[in-house]
Order: sequence, then C-alpha cells, then structure tokens
Amino acid sequence: MTKYTEPKYRSIHEAEGNELEVLKEKVAASMWKPAFHVHPEHGLLNDPNGLAYFNGEFHVFYQWFPFGAFHGMKHWAHVKSNNLVDWERLPTALVPTEDYESHGAYSGASMEVDGKLYLYYTGNIKFSAEERSANQCLAIMGKDGEVLKYDKNPIIEGVPTGYTGHVRDPKVFRKGSMYYMLLGAQREDKTGEIIVYESKDALDWSFKGELRLNLDLPESCYMLECPDYFEIKGQEVLVISPQGLEAKQHHYQNLYNVIYALGKLDMENLTFDVTDYQELDKGFDFYAPQTFEGRNKERLMFGWAGMAEVEYPTDQEDWAHCLTLPRELDIVNGLLVQKPAIELKQLRSKSQSGVLTLDKGSTDLHSGYHSFELETSIESRESDSFGLELFSSETEGLVLEFDRSTQTVTLNRENFPALFGDEHGFVRSAELSIGDTVKVHAFVDRSIAEIFINDGEVVFTTRVFPMNKSTGIKLFTDKELTCTYTIYQLKSNNSL
Ligand code: FRU
Repeated sequence: MTKYTEPKYRSIHEAEGNELEVLKEKVAASMWKPAFHVHPEHGLLNDPNGLAYFNGEFHVFYQWFPFGAFHGMKHWAHVKSNNLVDWERLPTALVPTEDYESHGAYSGASMEVDGKLYLYYTGNIKFSAEERSANQCLAIMGKDGEVLKYDKNPIIEGVPTGYTGHVRDPKVFRKGSMYYMLLGAQREDKTGEIIVYESKDALDWSFKGELRLNLDLPESCYMLECPDYFEIKGQEVLVISPQGLEAKQHHYQNLYNVIYALGKLDMENLTFDVTDYQELDKGFDFYAPQTFEGRNKERLMFGWAGMAEVEYPTDQEDWAHCLTLPRELDIVNGLLVQKPAIELKQLRSKSQSGVLTLDKGSTDLHSGYHSFELETSIESRESDSFGLELFSSETEGLVLEFDRSTQTVTLNRENFPALFGDEHGFVRSAELSIGDTVKVHAFVDRSIAEIFINDGEVVFTTRVFPMNKSTGIKLFTDKELTCTYTIYQLKSNNSL
C-alpha cells in the first residue's frame, strides 16, 4: 500500500537548507515569547508528554510540529531541568521515522521500570485525509539520557474490534503486580471511551476491555483524549480531555475541555466509580494536562496552554502555544485544588508590597513588568463588583471581575486589538463563594496569565497578545475595599 502523503507529514530530518534556522530567528524576535514558560523554539507545541522526575532531573516532553504554527507531523520535543525553573533544550526525543508511526509520534506518558524511563506513545497512521489507525509504541530512556525506540515496536498493533482509528494517548501505571494502560478511544458508534490493556512486564500487553465510568457525559461526546490517573492522599483521581461536550453556563466554554473525576478504580470489574467531577481549569487555553510525581512525591501537573482549531496571533510568526507552569495538585475539602509549584519562587527577583484602600473607581497597582507574579488579598464587605485588570494600558486590558450578587468570577479578554478565538466568545466564568476576602495569585508572562483564586479553588489559564506598553495592573471596585499585595518581577530563562 502506498503511504498517504501531504506536505505537513514531513519529519525534521527532511528540513531543507537553512529553513529551521530561518524559523528560529523569526520566532526569537517575537515580543510574545514567554520568559519562563516552556514553549517551542519554532513551530507548534501541544500536549505535554512523558513527564517525569527521573534520575534527579525533571523531564518534560511535548508534542511538536517543527515547521510552522499548524498541526502536522508530530515529534516529541524534550527539555529538562533540575529545579523546574531553568530548562535546557535537548535533542528531539522522538522523530517519527518508522512505518509504525508514519504520521506522527502522538501523545503518551512515562513510567520508570528497572531504572529506565519507559516512554509510551501512539504511532499515528493515516490512510487518507479521513481514515486512520493507531499503534501503541515504546521508547526507552536510560540514565545517560539517550532515547531509543523499542526494537519490537509496536507494542500494540492497531486498534481493538469495535473502535475507530482514534485510539491514543497511553497512560501507564502499576497497581499490585500488574501494569495497566489507559487509552483514549472512540467506539464505532462515535462515542468516547477509555479502554484498558494489561501487562505483567510493561512490554507485552493484552486488551482487557472498556473502563466504565459513571459520568453522565452527553452522547455528543465523541472522543476522550489523554486519560490520566493518580492518587493524592489516598483519593483516586481520573483526568480526561473529552471532545464534543456542550457548553453550559460556567462550564465547557471551550471547544475542548478537561474534566477531573474523584472516585475509585476497580480493575477487576473495570469500573471507575465517580463520586464527584468538575472542570479542571476555567480559562480559555487549557487542554490535555498530564501529571507526575515530583521530587517529594507531590503531584505535579503541566497542561497545554492552547486550544485546537483556534487561530492565534503568533501563527503569523510561525510559532504557537506554550505549556502552563508546573502546578501542584492537592485535595482540599473534597475539591482538587491547584497551586503554582513551590519551585517557582526561585524565579522571583525584585518585589514591591503595599496595602491600598480604594472607595470606588480604579487605581494602578503597578506597571513596567512583562513577566511577574502578583499575590493579593482583597478584603471587602460592601463591594458587589470589584477586581483586577492585567496587561493594562489606556487601550487594553484583561479583566478579572468578582460579582458578589451572583457569586461568580469572570475573565474577559475582549478588550485587545489582537483579538482571537472569537468563535468561542471572550468571557469565561466560574461559580465562587465570595466572602469578605478573596485571594488572587497570578503569574503573567508576556502573553500568558495563569490566575489562581482562593488558593487554587478556581484557576484560569489564558493567552493574550498585548501591546508592548500594556504592563499595568489595575484594581477596581464599586465600593470600599482594601487590597494587600506583593508584586515580584520574575526572571527570564534565557536558555529557552
Ligand atoms: C490532544 C491530542 C492527542 C494526540 C495529540 C496529537 O491535544 O489530540 O489526543 O495524541 O494531541 O498531537
């Protein structure tokens, strides 16, 4: 059978002349390149892959198409760090060169086995623009950092009966004496499911069946991508990236969304008994997150700070997207909360603190930093409507607004000339119990904001593409409030 070809299915080995250098130079000149968020040197980044703290270092791989800001032949790019802050770029870990991965090395997760890091991934196969299949594959990284594809690949050839070619994104873990692999899948009836394989040695896998989840996902849900499973303080958590959910007030406002479910996994009966589930991040740009165990066994997560099928202003510059910052997950009062990883404190340089009382209207808290961290505690009994404006100047600003009467928080990114994503609206919202004090902890990095509210109870991840001058932070209110704040300028990671 002849291989299905399209210009976008080209690996980095097929780069012509100095085309990569030209791309690199073009992207280096972008004023929207983040200072400390993991981002591509050129081309498009999407899902974080294979995350691990391994052999004393943090390894982050990510989906990468090198040749431009679109989804083509996916590679696994690789960066590492010993402190989660200073990243070093390493040679591309997976370049799709083999027949079993003919149209890309798709997402997957890692697991340490016998002192080696096993990287599980999906070999994407296309027969035509519409028809596809998938192989599950393995690459092994030793302590010397060399990544070698397993010589018996694929470890799972094709998809099981009853499923379309959309079977991908292996998450592998050990439970008792067995290894299990969760895969996102689509049934032939076009509904999204998770399927399970098992193995005694992490190499030979057999199909076990479908994982039954008592989540009332609508029939319109046609695919579940990027499953993740972990435990925090004995609480089991499943994270999925479902496609085809319908938007409801405060929920699933993006084209694709992410859900976490708390519950109990029973591998004998293949069930995950859900006790509660929620959307993981309420912002505009968040998808396909993955978690791993950090240095002190804490649960860390990176997500893709981007959304498929949305045109971003940097597409013109031949690059797109970045990862979120690493976040530490915890379970507090039956909720999954997210906090910036403690290691991020190492980024702090100059700081400025203050306490400000404002009766009405707005005031500037600060301006001049393109990359900063802001910690505030806002106290107010009276005000109905109050909040902060980031990336603020006289012409634009990202507005975070708390509304006491409806007990909601909204994020509005409409007010920018570099508008994008209009097909999915400019406002995101979440329910929040607004008492006398609201805490806002935000990280801003040139073209991304990650906003943690009330110790990570609600989190918004959003990209914005401001003018160079829009570095202001504004506070506004309709009635008296007091704001205690600290602003830290954050260092740039020059090696990225
Ligand atoms: C999620 C996803 C995955 C797939 C990868 C391809 O964003 O669609 O399901 O493996 O991206 O880049």
